[in-house]
Amino acid sequence: MAFNRPEERILILDFGSQYTQLIARRVREAKVYSEIHPWNMPLEKIVEFAPKGIILSGGHQSVYDAQAPDLNSGILTLGVPILGICYGMQLLARHFGGHVEASSKREYGPALIRATGGLDALFGRFLRDGSTEVWMSHGDHVTQLPAGFQVTAQSDNAPVAAMSDVARGIFGVQFHPEVHHTPRGFDLIDDFLHQSILCNCASLWTSGNFIEYALGNIVRQVGSDHVVLGLSGGVDSSVVAALLHRALGKQLTCVFVDNGLLRLHEADEVMATFAQHMGVRVVRVDAADLFMGRLDKIANPEDKRKIIGHTFIEVFEREAKKLSGVRWLAQGTIYPDVIESAGATTGVAANIKSHHNVGGLPAQMGLKLLEPLRELFKDEVRQVGLDLGLPSRMIHRHPFPGPGLGVRILGAVKKEYADILRQADAIYIEELHNADLYTQIGQAFAVFLPVKSVGVMGDGRTYDHVIALRAVSTKDYMTAAAYPMPHDLLSRISNRIINEVPGVNRVVYDVTSKPPGTIEWE
Ligand code: XMP
Repeated sequence: MAFNRPEERILILDFGSQYTQLIARRVREAKVYSEIHPWNMPLEKIVEFAPKGIILSGGHQSVYDAQAPDLNSGILTLGVPILGICYGMQLLARHFGGHVEASSKREYGPALIRATGGLDALFGRFLRDGSTEVWMSHGDHVTQLPAGFQVTAQSDNAPVAAMSDVARGIFGVQFHPEVHHTPRGFDLIDDFLHQSILCNCASLWTSGNFIEYALGNIVRQVGSDHVVLGLSGGVDSSVVAALLHRALGKQLTCVFVDNGLLRLHEADEVMATFAQHMGVRVVRVDAADLFMGRLDKIANPEDKRKIIGHTFIEVFEREAKKLSGVRWLAQGTIYPDVIESAGATTGVAANIKSHHNVGGLPAQMGLKLLEPLRELFKDEVRQVGLDLGLPSRMIHRHPFPGPGLGVRILGAVKKEYADILRQADAIYIEELHNADLYTQIGQAFAVFLPVKSVGVMGDGRTYDHVIALRAVSTKDYMTAAAYPMPHDLLSRISNRIINEVPGVNRVVYDVTSKPPGTIEWE
């Protein structure tokens, strides 16, 4: 069944820049829906997409390279405004007869650009002070302006830092307005989208409008069928549950598997939020003994992951089969997963989410896949969750890996270790909330080390386990820096854990970045 798309759309053609996702996010922040597609998207698909404007991303090649991604000149016939960024501008310049050359020096980092003439609808606000700071990242630049264009701005290194052809609605910028290091970059993107002589978009892409449009789509897609969702308590599946519940009510059944590797009180909190407060139909499966039994004496991290993953699928499938009339399996896939698996050349290689996609399951169970968040970025998912009434603490919770505490108890997993870790972790997280640091940290958690060390408590010698604390700052979870935790806070957390959690007599802090470390210890 055809899927309704939001009413106004901006197309971002991806030429391989590491910043392409940021362009899409900035456009969405300006309340206009955008999608990223590969640079070679066929013209008929573009026409079908019917964008109100097109943005050409940057890219790491030179426009003169034989293999370099090229401009589909068909887009110039559509009569919609076009903004080329960096490589995108160079493609436009070359196409219209300008000249692009390798600069004598690669320009990377902040630069000052100066307005060079009259300001037009695109650059008026951006260059209102006559000059502004921008972020540059390029080797080539435009040395000769194509016919019909004006130079709008220059920098010391770029004779054409920005160019405009207002009559045809075609613009180029050598710098990157999409990154935060270009302080007024948002103004430029915002004006490209909203100025009446440019894309003339309204501000329709809001969380409220998304919810309305998603509800309509879900009802149209699913009809009177039944849907099953694996609820993990994480942000994405929680938001899917709330959205589907609003759209479908009792046609949705969530299966929540307690594998014995969840955080303190997590299962009860999930049940309280969804089943008690919201009236969502949730089947809670207590499978801790099954998971623990299968993990008995298994110390290898990859083996543990596989066992936990397979056991989850087995339990989930068994429960789902007990439900009658289910035709759909819902999943919390989000837009970054879609972009990456579609192979758009985003320059981002790793895919965090592949960890917990229950691949193959829908086909095996004869179910159709329902992914109502597949157009949203994570921050949009959070906003939708809040607007659907989910508690802020749940929405702003740090990511938690599918295998749960199974990869935070090093080596063989035992219930006794999981109990110790749960308590230590809860104290740690509580203290981070008390210190107002939780939301500034990308991910924080405790790790159980199955070694013993000697200590003294009171008058006695102890010989107990070690807890490691981890906290990282990260934007994308692909690279991360150890969070510089204040020492007094670390002392307080360490004291509390040692005093309140029997079986622990030593706490250490992990200062490893990623790379070379990973965020999780296994
Ligand atoms: P690493 O340890 O690879 O973690 O630096 C990067 C991010 O991914 C999470 N992670 C997982 N998530 N299943 C998941 O759903 C997994 O098996 C898994 N392993 C790691 C990790 O918590 C961090 O956010």
